[in-house]
Amino acid sequence: MSGSNRPQRVRLHHLTQMKERSEPITMLTCYDAVTAQIFDNAAIDMLLVGDSFGNTLLGYGSTIKVTLDEMLMATGAVSRGAHRAFVVADLPFGTYEESPTQAVSSAVQLIKAGAQAVKLEGGVRQAARIKAITDAGIPVIGHIGFTPQSEHRLGGPRVQGRGEEAAAAVIDDAVAVQEAGASGVVLEMVPARVAGKITKILEIPTIGIGAGDHCDGQVLVWTDMAGMTGWSPSFSKQFGAVGAALRDAATSYSEAVKSRAFPDESHSF
Ligand code: KIV
Repeated sequence: MSGSNRPQRVRLHHLTQMKERSEPITMLTCYDAVTAQIFDNAAIDMLLVGDSFGNTLLGYGSTIKVTLDEMLMATGAVSRGAHRAFVVADLPFGTYEESPTQAVSSAVQLIKAGAQAVKLEGGVRQAARIKAITDAGIPVIGHIGFTPQSEHRLGGPRVQGRGEEAAAAVIDDAVAVQEAGASGVVLEMVPARVAGKITKILEIPTIGIGAGDHCDGQVLVWTDMAGMTGWSPSFSKQFGAVGAALRDAATSYSEAVKSRAFPDESHSF
């Protein structure tokens, strides 16, 4: 605890120390202040303002349409709700691909909105942008393996790194991300054996999603983790039934209003 009663903010060096002492790092996606406060109270180490905001809460069906303005709004909200967790914000599709200059300009806006680091997708092909952003003093988290912003090129959500040649390509991506200056890397839909090898090779923490149990940390999309809808990807797990609990609460409220049981005297002036 700090002097102000607030828990100590998780910082980059804490994440590195957690890797060094083999303490698993927890990360969840998050898109608003209320949920950020709940996850902070649960001592989740890292909150990712992921562009999965697009498919989870905005109803877009993919991450492709998400704009920088939408990410700035969500990042501001999460950073106001979280006082302990390390907040990472995704650079959305179309806001960093053109040039390192474009990447720095977009990253600066996310940091001004309250993020402590930005995440972008791609390994070897993104090295110049990762370097430019870190040179600007902004921590970068890489994202390799299946990268949803390239879903059309990759043929949809598919495991990346199966077979020796494909595994070597993912390992090259991981090394390139670290050499460009990234402070961590998300491994998505990568065979556990390959993720384990990368985790051993790299000095920076690896955070897995559908990448087995050898990573330094794990990340899940919170709506999948909490069971907000009936569906979640096969590599995810529902740790609660929050969607059903919310539906039940709404049904009880509706019944109480329709039957005039609410508001009663104790809820009136
Ligand atoms: O946007 C997101 O939720 C992500 C996770 C899948 C890691 O990038």
